[in-house]
Amino acid sequence: MSPTTANIIAKLASEHNLSDAELLALLTGTEDGINEQLACAADKLRRQYYGDKVYIRGLIEFTNYCKNNCYYCGIRAGNSLAERYRLSQEEILACCAEGYKLGFRTFVLQGGEDLYYTDDKICSIVSAIRRQHPDCAITLSIGEKSRASYQAYFDAGANRYLLRHETADAEHYAKLHPASMSLENRKRCLFDLKEIGYQVGSGFMVGSPYQTPRTLLSDLRFLQQLQPDMIGIGPYITHEHTPFKDRPSGTLEQTLRLLSMLRLLFPYALLPSTTALGTIHPEGRELGLKAGGNVIMPNLSPVGVRKKYELYANKICTGEEAAQCRGCLEARVRMAGYNIVTDIGDVRRTLE
Ligand code: 5AD
Ligand code: FES
Repeated sequence: MSPTTANIIAKLASEHNLSDAELLALLTGTEDGINEQLACAADKLRRQYYGDKVYIRGLIEFTNYCKNNCYYCGIRAGNSLAERYRLSQEEILACCAEGYKLGFRTFVLQGGEDLYYTDDKICSIVSAIRRQHPDCAITLSIGEKSRASYQAYFDAGANRYLLRHETADAEHYAKLHPASMSLENRKRCLFDLKEIGYQVGSGFMVGSPYQTPRTLLSDLRFLQQLQPDMIGIGPYITHEHTPFKDRPSGTLEQTLRLLSMLRLLFPYALLPSTTALGTIHPEGRELGLKAGGNVIMPNLSPVGVRKKYELYANKICTGEEAAQCRGCLEARVRMAGYNIVTDIGDVRRTLE
C-alpha cells in the first residue's frame, strides 16, 4: 500500500474524519491491503469502546405486507408472487418469550409498511411486550410514519427505531424508489424520531443499483449530520421478482471496507454485521465483526414464515429454530474472537 493511503487510514483512525477527497480515495482505492489495514484499525478502535462484546438483537419479522414498491425489495407491493403473512399479537409475544429465554434483551419488530397494523394495534403490541419484559429494549422497524404515530409508539414503550435512509443522494433515491417516496420525507422521519427521544438506527445498502462513490460520500456525510446510535449496512442482493432483477449484487469486499470506515468515523456506533452479509459469503458475519461490527441480529420469527420474509434471494437461517441460531452464533462469534453479551446493549458514547 502506498504511504499516502496508509496516511489517510492513520488520519481517519485518529481524527474520525477526513476530507471529501480522502474519503473518496478510500472508497475507490484498489491497492492491495486497504481492507486489511482498515479492518485492523477498526477492530482496534471497537475494542477500545466495546471490548470483545457482541450485542444480539432478536428480529421478529411480523408482516411481509407492504404498501410500498421500492425497486430493490422482494416484498414490494408489486411482487404478486410473494406469499404474504401477518403474525398476531399472541404470536409476536410468543417469539419474545422464547427470545427472552435464550438471552435476548432487545426485540426488533420489523415489517413492511402494512396498514393493517394501525397505530392502536402497534401500541397494543408494544405495551404488551413492555409489560411482559420491562427489562428489555423494544425496537421498531416499520417504515415511514407521521410524527404523531412515532410519538404514540414511544409513549407505549418503544425505545429504538430502525429506518435506513437507503441513500442520501436525492437523485439516487429517486432511482431506487417510486415517485410516491422521497428522501426528504425519509430524513424528516429520522429527525422526528431523534427529537422524540428514540435511539435511532439508519443505514444503506452497499452496491445498490446506480450507487457511486459520490452517493456513498453523501451517505457518510448524512450520517455525520444525523449521528445515529446504530448504522446498518449490508450488500444489496438481487431478487428475481423486482425491477432490478438483472442488476448485480453488492460485494463482500466493498461492504467490509465500508463497515471499517464507519467504525473509524463513528467509534461509538452500534454496527450490525448483517444477515445480508452472511448471505453473500458463508463467513460474512464473522468477517463483518472483524471489520468493526459489534451487533448481530438473528431471527426470532417462527420458522414457518421465515422464508416468506424474502427481501433478497437465498437469505440464510430460514430453516433454523431460534435456539439453533443462538447456539450457532455463539460458536461463530467466539471463533471470530468475540463474545456475545446478553445485556440490553445501549450505545456507548464514551470509552470503556
Ligand atoms: N438486498 C439487500 N438489502 C435489502 N433491503 C431491502 N431489499 C434488499 C435487497 N434486495 C434492506 C433495505 C431495508 C432493510 C430492511 O433491508 O436497506 O431498509
Ligand atoms: Fe442461524 Fe447460524 S446463525 S443457523
